[in-house]
Amino acid sequence: MSSSSINLAPIILGIESSCDETAAAVVRGGEEILASVVLSQFATHQPFGGVVPELASREHLRALVPVVRRALEEAGQNYASLDAIAVTQGPGLAGALLVGVSFAKALAYAEDKPLIAVNHLEGHIHAVLLEQKQQARAAGNTTALRFPLLALVVSGGHTHLYLAHAADEAGSGGWTYQNVGHTRDDAAGEAFDKVAKLLGLGYPGGPLIDGLAAHGDDRAVKFAFAQLKHPDRNPQGARKYAAAVSSSPASQPGARTTMPPRVDFSYSGIKTAVLRHVETHAMLASIEARRKALAGIAKVTVSEVLPLCDAHTLDLIASFQRAMVEDLVRKTLTAAEACGAKMLFVTGGVAANSALRGHFNAKATALGLPVHFPSRPLSTDNAAMIAAAAYPKFLANLFAPADFSAEASLALR
Ligand code: KG4
Ligand code: ZN
Repeated sequence: MSSSSINLAPIILGIESSCDETAAAVVRGGEEILASVVLSQFATHQPFGGVVPELASREHLRALVPVVRRALEEAGQNYASLDAIAVTQGPGLAGALLVGVSFAKALAYAEDKPLIAVNHLEGHIHAVLLEQKQQARAAGNTTALRFPLLALVVSGGHTHLYLAHAADEAGSGGWTYQNVGHTRDDAAGEAFDKVAKLLGLGYPGGPLIDGLAAHGDDRAVKFAFAQLKHPDRNPQGARKYAAAVSSSPASQPGARTTMPPRVDFSYSGIKTAVLRHVETHAMLASIEARRKALAGIAKVTVSEVLPLCDAHTLDLIASFQRAMVEDLVRKTLTAAEACGAKMLFVTGGVAANSALRGHFNAKATALGLPVHFPSRPLSTDNAAMIAAAAYPKFLANLFAPADFSAEASLALR
């Protein structure tokens, strides 16, 4: 879209309330963020070391109206100037989603605006796309997308691999998705949060482990991951699938009719392995002392927790992060190769991790696979990604019926 035409493009208000962030954003033309407000509930959940669903719903109820008002104010818009309202339908916490969906439905009805239901996971994928479009526009180019595109959505609630196909080579219309892998138990972000909790570091654990890992030896402790077997996955099938994908144009992906090979993840075992290490290396007393020292702090920072960690703890943290990063990268690249992916998107809260970005960049580049991440503020939950994902639906008149509802386990297709 040219700089002059974007000024006239439709404006969408996005609303996100699937987990522990209440967010609203105003986005023009699916790419220009006029405002993005994110209110995190970390202070509410910090004492519990994880998200408490009932408290999350209550906090969304409290925060939603002020957050939406602030987004509109910052964007210089009002309800009347909006072209549509978009809201996260799922997946996520049922009660939390319901707050956002009920509010968006009432607002759309009262203001007589079309309502668009967005899948949270597609939102995370659009966080990457949104910035790709912005960069292309700044450089006077069109977005260089290549299909099939493999997206790893890795966050506190999800570790999913989606193979995305587009109706046209440019990928400007709607996309369809095939799930080619997911976690069989804990999500990767959940493992970061649970390990941080058991080491007495604070919540959310991902950013703290990210900051602390740089101070430890990441080869000090060895962790192993189970190899997950799939009845539908064999090298011959994978080769056949990759050949079918590469010989069919993006607009007619013949391979879409065959099942792609699957690559699954599992992260509950590593949490138990960290716990075993703690118990067998007499670390429990120092963990309890750290927990007590940090008890009154609403949002623990790396500089507050670093002096409370001895060398052994920092080595354990660094080794845990390295194991997680290596497994995520190895399995994603295995899936990319098996599915004949031509481009890689890595998105979701854990995509903010510095080591994950570094490792993906090194390994994917070596394979000649272009890899893209959202900027850090757009990696974690936000509503700009919801408004951006709604834009192609707005253009295609794909509006939500009046009786649509929140869906905690909504699938992405
Ligand atoms: O996408 P997100 O905001 O919410 C969900 O949809 O789950 O992701 C939150 C998750 C949390 O588990 C948090 O610990 C993790 O993302 N996270 C990180 C980092 N920043 C956030 N994990 C590792 N390294 C980070 N820098
Ligand atoms: Zn998310």
